[in-house]
Amino acid sequence: MVIESVLSDLDLSTRHTLASSNWAVQGVSIQRVRDVLEWCADTSHCAQHSPIWVLGQGSNVVFGADFPGTLLLSAIKGVTRVSTESDGDTEVWRVAAGELWRDWVEQSVDAGLSGLENLALIPGTVGAAPVQNIGAYGSDLSQVCVGVHAVDIRTGSARYFTQQACRFAYRDSIFKHPDDANRWFITAVDFRLSRRFHPVLSYPALQKACAAPRSARDVFDAVCAIRSQKLPDPAVLPNAGSFFKNPLILRSEAERLRQKLPEIPIFALSNADAWGVAERESGEQVQRVKVSAGYLIEQAGLKGYRRGNVGVYAHHALVLVRHAPGPGAEIVALSTEIQQRVLDQFGVRLDIEPVVWRGG
Ligand code: EPU
Repeated sequence: MVIESVLSDLDLSTRHTLASSNWAVQGVSIQRVRDVLEWCADTSHCAQHSPIWVLGQGSNVVFGADFPGTLLLSAIKGVTRVSTESDGDTEVWRVAAGELWRDWVEQSVDAGLSGLENLALIPGTVGAAPVQNIGAYGSDLSQVCVGVHAVDIRTGSARYFTQQACRFAYRDSIFKHPDDANRWFITAVDFRLSRRFHPVLSYPALQKACAAPRSARDVFDAVCAIRSQKLPDPAVLPNAGSFFKNPLILRSEAERLRQKLPEIPIFALSNADAWGVAERESGEQVQRVKVSAGYLIEQAGLKGYRRGNVGVYAHHALVLVRHAPGPGAEIVALSTEIQQRVLDQFGVRLDIEPVVWRGG
């Protein structure tokens, strides 16, 4: 590997969308699959430069402290059509992990493909998308992802994860589970997309904005308009999108909450969400629903709340923002305060959506 691809004393403020002032000991730019295979197969690297994390655009990561190891910077590019299925309508595309998600979605829509239009304008790289099973406006990645190509950072060996092996659930996958977190460097993702337009308009605001779409482009445009209106642009106001997951709570607990908060939005779980929950709870039949974390935070009086350099976005309580430069520990302290206040007031525990480096 060429020596220029190793960067020492990496300033993280420009490498993640929360823009906190923290540093990493080093970053290694991975531009070809061969780079990561070679780097990880050299056991001296893994021994000397740990901890080792993968970083894409940094749109779903919180650096709560300086990072004392190596960040493998995902920069492999390339988009290829792998196959057209016999029905002539369905195509499989392989997209390298370092491609920008939003560019790939637009490219697929421009190519006349349907399947990704509801996931328009989500920040981040393609390689990060399966990690948290990105989702928005009635769709999520698990519905179109047929497999993930990855390299085991511990051994330098390649592995293909089928859709099932990825164990997708609501904002979750095998790549986030304790035994596998930070173990896999994702090199590419395979998508199954359709030449026939299949509109997904289950999300009420999307249906309102786009009642009778004629193409994936119409839905794409409507999603871009809704997102731009609701969510802050990280380039203008640093943020990591939704900071907390919407809690999946027992139906009985939701009924109890409703007595306190009669207007609280309660949603049925999608199949993918429900599978994840059932699996975690030893296959028992569980009766869970999803409630809105943004609503709970707003009702706790925290929408627009400011704590020093950071705060809760004034127009959407699920998004934490940075108003002025400062270390990532400020974000961690703010999120802990929000979790505590929501727990004290409503008895609901909020889980953090992004991956957090807490130091150590
Ligand atoms: N709400 C409030 N106050 C707020 C924000 C929201 O009361 O300040 C309530 C409203 O009642 C609203 C409901 O929460 O109807 C849901 O809000 P929204 O439609 O904005 O969606 P969300 O549940 O907050 C989720 C995803 C977003 C995704 C949107 C649209 C999670 C954690 N977040 O947000 O994903 O764009 O739905 O599908 O599931 C992300 O993951 O980074 C992200 C932005």
